[in-house]
Amino acid sequence: MILVAGGTGFVGSAAVRELLRLGERVAVLGRSAEGVRERYGDVVEAREGDVREPETLAPAMASADVVINAVQFPGSPIENRRKGWTFEEIDLKGTRHQIDAGQAAGVRRFVYVSGVGAAKDAEKHWFRYKWEAEEYVRRSGLEWVIVRPTWVFGPDDVSLNRFLGLARRLPFVPMFGAGEQPVQPVFIDDVGRVLADCALRPEAANTTFELGGPEVMSMNDVVSTALDVRGKHRRLLHQPVAVGKVLGAVASVLPSPPLSRDAVDFITEPAVADNTKLLEVLRPQLTPLREGLARYLR
Ligand SMILES: NC(=O)c1ccc[n+]([C@@H]2O[C@H](COP(=O)([O-])OP(=O)(O)OC[C@H]3O[C@@H](n4cnc5c(N)ncnc54)[C@H](OP(=O)(O)O)[C@@H]3O)[C@@H](O)[C@H]2O)c1
Repeated sequence: MILVAGGTGFVGSAAVRELLRLGERVAVLGRSAEGVRERYGDVVEAREGDVREPETLAPAMASADVVINAVQFPGSPIENRRKGWTFEEIDLKGTRHQIDAGQAAGVRRFVYVSGVGAAKDAEKHWFRYKWEAEEYVRRSGLEWVIVRPTWVFGPDDVSLNRFLGLARRLPFVPMFGAGEQPVQPVFIDDVGRVLADCALRPEAANTTFELGGPEVMSMNDVVSTALDVRGKHRRLLHQPVAVGKVLGAVASVLPSPPLSRDAVDFITEPAVADNTKLLEVLRPQLTPLREGLARYLR
């Protein structure tokens, strides 16, 4: 049985869909078993656990052969320290707790959804925590697979859909920065298939895969393509990053901030993957942006 932690989320649910399509037995771990049942009914086994509470995880992992960790805190990348929704608590400590519980529960393989940019000496703390979590996974003694997606798009993403939502309400689309940073958007269905491969295929074991789409383009081109496929003709209105940071600093005093200074960096940085290992070992079909968008926007 394959347990998908975070299987109710954007990335995790793509893995669940693909595993079910392949006829696998799937369990989903979320903070509420009821929430999992509401989403999936009886098609998956609902398991309840919180990655910040280690004692909840070993029972939740009982009889899992493989665990996929696709957990992220609500509202990411906007951290909320009061609620413990931070990269340190969820990415780093949450992954450690899952590995420890997986060892106790007899899990054979652990698949960790990291992110492109994870590095020991990364400038941004979210990439350093991802790296530390990866290292814990690599040294766990379990079979491991690490997947580092770039910027994922799909019907339920919270990034590209935000621009499309703005285009519905405004005669222009505001964007922080010049929008010239290179990105390599990867379609959610492709991410689901790669995660299923990472859970199932023997040759994926003990490998770190970066995962991007088939095209590298500027963020401006990504948003313009989405608007075009949607049939909305809107001008992009670029706002200086500094303005975003001021707004983020002001917003951070709110109980549930809609923006933060760090989030502005997060959404304006380049996101390009090296697909070499992925294409060599797993050889997935990768969907071009326009083709992926057309599947759900037209
Ligand atoms: N989205 C992207 O473009 C992208 C790109 C690169 C990498 N990633 C990585 O992919 C992973 C998943 O991201 P996502 O975008 O799919 O996030 P998401 O849609 O916000 O889903 C997060 C999942 O985590 C679960 N969760 C939250 N807090 C939890 C806790 N304390 N204990 C247990 N489960 C908890 C949520 O389930 P409940 O609410 O049911 O508890 C939900 O299923 C993350 O590691 C992220 O960094 C995402």
